[in-house]
Amino acid sequence: MKRTHTCGILTENSIDETVRLTGWVNSRRDLGGVIFIDIRDREGVTQLVINPENNAELDDACRPIREEWVISATGVVRPRPQDMINHNIKTGAIEVAVTELHVDNSCKPMPYHFNDSQVSEDLRLKYRYLEMRRTNLGHHLRLRHKISKVLRDYFDRQGFIEVETPILSKSTPEGARDYLVPSRVFPGKFFALPQAPQQYKQILMVGGVERYFQIARCFRDEDLRADRQPEFTQVDIEMSFVEQDDLFEIVEGLFVDVMRAVKDIEISTPFPRLTYKEAMSRFGSDKPDTRFEMHLCDLSGVLNGSEFKVFENALSAGGVVMAINARGTAEIASRKKLDAWTDTVKLMDAHGLVWVKIDEHNEIKSPAKKFLSESELNAIISAVNAQTGDVILIVADQFSVATQALGRLRLEIAHSQNLIPENQYNFLWVHDFPLFDHDSENDSYIPIHHPFTSPREDDIELLSTDPGSARAQAYDVVLNGVEVGGGSIRIHDAALQKRIFDLLNISDADAGALFGHLLEALSFGAPPHGGLALGFDRLVMLLTGASSIRDVIAFPKTTRSSCLLTDSPSCVDAAQLDELKIDIRPGTEM
Ligand code: AMO
Repeated sequence: MKRTHTCGILTENSIDETVRLTGWVNSRRDLGGVIFIDIRDREGVTQLVINPENNAELDDACRPIREEWVISATGVVRPRPQDMINHNIKTGAIEVAVTELHVDNSCKPMPYHFNDSQVSEDLRLKYRYLEMRRTNLGHHLRLRHKISKVLRDYFDRQGFIEVETPILSKSTPEGARDYLVPSRVFPGKFFALPQAPQQYKQILMVGGVERYFQIARCFRDEDLRADRQPEFTQVDIEMSFVEQDDLFEIVEGLFVDVMRAVKDIEISTPFPRLTYKEAMSRFGSDKPDTRFEMHLCDLSGVLNGSEFKVFENALSAGGVVMAINARGTAEIASRKKLDAWTDTVKLMDAHGLVWVKIDEHNEIKSPAKKFLSESELNAIISAVNAQTGDVILIVADQFSVATQALGRLRLEIAHSQNLIPENQYNFLWVHDFPLFDHDSENDSYIPIHHPFTSPREDDIELLSTDPGSARAQAYDVVLNGVEVGGGSIRIHDAALQKRIFDLLNISDADAGALFGHLLEALSFGAPPHGGLALGFDRLVMLLTGASSIRDVIAFPKTTRSSCLLTDSPSCVDAAQLDELKIDIRPGTEM
């Protein structure tokens, strides 16, 4: 007989009904001859009560049962005694008095306790299926499914079609290292797993698809962090005949639907927009967390002409003097704490940190006090609006070093001072990114987004005169300080695309060999187009409150890019290598 109900649904409305439940044994307690079993399936837990007295069959069936055995139980729903009601779960007011019990499967003793926070991540990855059953990973996967359903429905309504693009694709330089797949048919040649479907989706636009999306797997062989996996999922979007604003509107509408469905929250649109320059100047980050203030303040103007060497040197070298006001931290800003904050900015390549503390007696303390005039000190204090109990933290350096160092410190202090409100979702756009980064060591340019990103039209001139200051039509969407997506308006003109390749030192021959397919497609009437990709795992991580994307992926890799569940990568048969004409170098660690 099949189950009549799931384990998460029975309430007092079903009292006296005969039901049949199936699931895993969540826990078992024997109390004075009566056995209580909490039976669990993915919907919840129900308490079974078994009184084996005078029922030899029941007695036999339930005696060996342990945690995680799979059982089926038939019985009658009855109210729990008043003092046994559990108000925390939906089924907490009832229990099922079991009349028939069947063991569907036994289970080896659990390899570890699921609530034990000391259990290593490696062990949890090896027994991923048990984690799914026992921890909130199962809920995360369901939420992930729900989000993907909401977004598929949304895109469908907006006239997008989902198109799958190849997984076996071509190795092209796109930022990270490629995962390569050797070809048996063409020995010595390789496919690459896609780092993103970027080129295919642009070609789909040339093919007249106009509105494409895909929940796409991407593969990047790069150093891993909590928000990076070698194999991850993007919500990939591309549209024809659009400008940046049209894309923003589509993505904002998507987030409105997702937040409504998943969080029951109405977010407001349009999202705030910051240029890259504004984001760096105010938050010291291109993915600002705006849930708290502590904005960066540029003191360069008020300190112009200062004789304090630290400031003077930075300003005369074309740098800046930037500050944040760590409000109310004077009490905790001990020597040790200030040293730790100094270490933080040094990690970001700053030379040091100047601090000015206004203690509880309104006395100003600072190692720089004797080098600054009273009017300079007052100007600093009023610029950051500092008051009793505040600590002003100042970095004098090149713009990018000073802002990023203070941006990092801003986050560190906010976390340690609990300044970040929970359950708040701050979306924003960062746009007008620079087109290139300049690699001074090799005197070469590197695209900030990717080489297919269009410069801003008013900056095209700069490609000939000062490419380093050209801005891109590129944008990121940021949620609570995490880059959840990025994209750009693309170059749809083969001549401009070639000019960019020239600036990137990609020769005609290399461009032909690497991107010939795209260049050729662009020359056959490519429409103006642009798009964006959202990091789906990151989005699910933020919406579930998980701390790592590993916690929202069914089968993630370790930080060393291996899979402990299947023990891969693994060695392969000599015959397989032979077919591929591949020799493993002697001495290679296997
Ligand atoms: P980009 O490289 O910025 O753009 O990637 C888009 C988004 O994907 C997520 N992401 C990752 N998530 C998990 N693990 C990773 N290793 C990882 N790398 C990136 C981030 C990021 O914002 N083709 C372009 C998009 C476009 O121009 O349309 C692209 O891939 O959230």
